[in-house]
Amino acid sequence: MLKSFDIYSQNNILKIIVALNLLLVGTGSLLYTDRLITKLETREQQYVQLYASAIGYLYGSSHPDAGDLTFVTSEILQANKSIPVIYVNPNNQIAGELNVGFPEGTTDEEKEPFLRKTIIEMRKEHSPLIVNIGDGQQGLVYYSTSKLLRQLTYFPYALLAILTALGVLAYLAFSSSRRAEQNRVWVGLAKETAHQLGTPMSSLMAWVEYMRSDPDQFDGSITDEIEKDVQRLETITARFSSIGSVPTLKEENLNDVVQQFTDYLARRISTKVKMSLSSQLPPNQMVKINKLLFEWVIENVCKNAVDAMKGTGELRLKIMPLPHKEVAIDITDTGKGISKANMQKVFSPGFSTKKRGWGLGLTLAKRIVEEYHDGRLYVKSSEVGKGTTFRIVLNAD
Ligand SMILES: Nc1ncnc2c1ncn2[C@@H]1O[C@H](COP(=O)(O)OP(=O)(O)OP(=O)(O)O)[C@@H](O)[C@H]1O
Ligand SMILES: [Mg+2]
Repeated sequence: MLKSFDIYSQNNILKIIVALNLLLVGTGSLLYTDRLITKLETREQQYVQLYASAIGYLYGSSHPDAGDLTFVTSEILQANKSIPVIYVNPNNQIAGELNVGFPEGTTDEEKEPFLRKTIIEMRKEHSPLIVNIGDGQQGLVYYSTSKLLRQLTYFPYALLAILTALGVLAYLAFSSSRRAEQNRVWVGLAKETAHQLGTPMSSLMAWVEYMRSDPDQFDGSITDEIEKDVQRLETITARFSSIGSVPTLKEENLNDVVQQFTDYLARRISTKVKMSLSSQLPPNQMVKINKLLFEWVIENVCKNAVDAMKGTGELRLKIMPLPHKEVAIDITDTGKGISKANMQKVFSPGFSTKKRGWGLGLTLAKRIVEEYHDGRLYVKSSEVGKGTTFRIVLNAD
């Protein structure tokens, strides 16, 4: 049976919904402002056209009654409060300007050169409108896009940038808070467990002492067995208490540590599992580890391997040096293998294919290797029905 905490898949759906919404709002506003800009552009052009015609009326000699229209034309001219326009008359003199926006402190003498420069800029943007004054005389109206419209062109991009930044921030906040929460749960649970185990452990130890002192009443071999169990419990408590605090790393002989621990494991697993250990490391290779926690990793990975083989098969451990001052420990089984789809999932908390699995073994192991030892733990290879190799990589400098 496949189990997996729902919250993880729900989180993914939530992320997708948020991302889709951002995308929708982003493209929506982009399209909307784009339409708005096109409309405004047309309007501005119509406006300049009107301005040009008004100038034509104002200065044109072909309209004898132009004088009567002066108030209309001047109204049109003044109504334009945003589009920069410059009128150059048939004699190439600047005869009018609006909204050009002279830099502050421009003197009257400086105005003309400034306007000439502006005309060059305007020409790049739009070709000038021709104003027919009559008698074949033509003036030119230069213009550029209003400041407002120009700002509006940048608006959707600014909006998109803001939305993206918000999305990234939300995602970061979301994932880091989830992480922080997970960390607190881990550490809290571990500390609490160690604490809770402490009291019954010391009373068990006292019982063992008591039993030893009375060999007539208590069989010595039974006392030995109980003592071994108590010792095992002590190890578990020590592991929990070290994962609940910042563990200290110590230089250890990696070959020896793995050898000792596999000997210990070999005694505890089915005799039908053939266990072997080989090492290509120099015999005295030291690696900085927390022995207690590192043994926990090996135990979790080996236990999974034994489960995957249903108690029969071969379990091989291989230690070898890697380039860049790293060492690898490969743990290979001849078990049922892991499907491609499950390769990453096996490290998620709660993922288990076992009837009585918590799905925490590999999560814990990965955490110990990556966060406490700055190493890596991953599925190196796996084939369904053939077997699996997990690899632990540690720094050895
Ligand atoms: N060597 C392996 N071969 C095949 N599948 C594996 C192997 N190791 C892990 N798995 C798969 O990964 C799952 C998760 O492993 P994990 O150790 O995290 O949890 P578990 O063993 O199911 O439960 P527990 O919390 O008791 O360890 C397993 O249920 C199993 O399906
Ligand atoms: Mg497990």
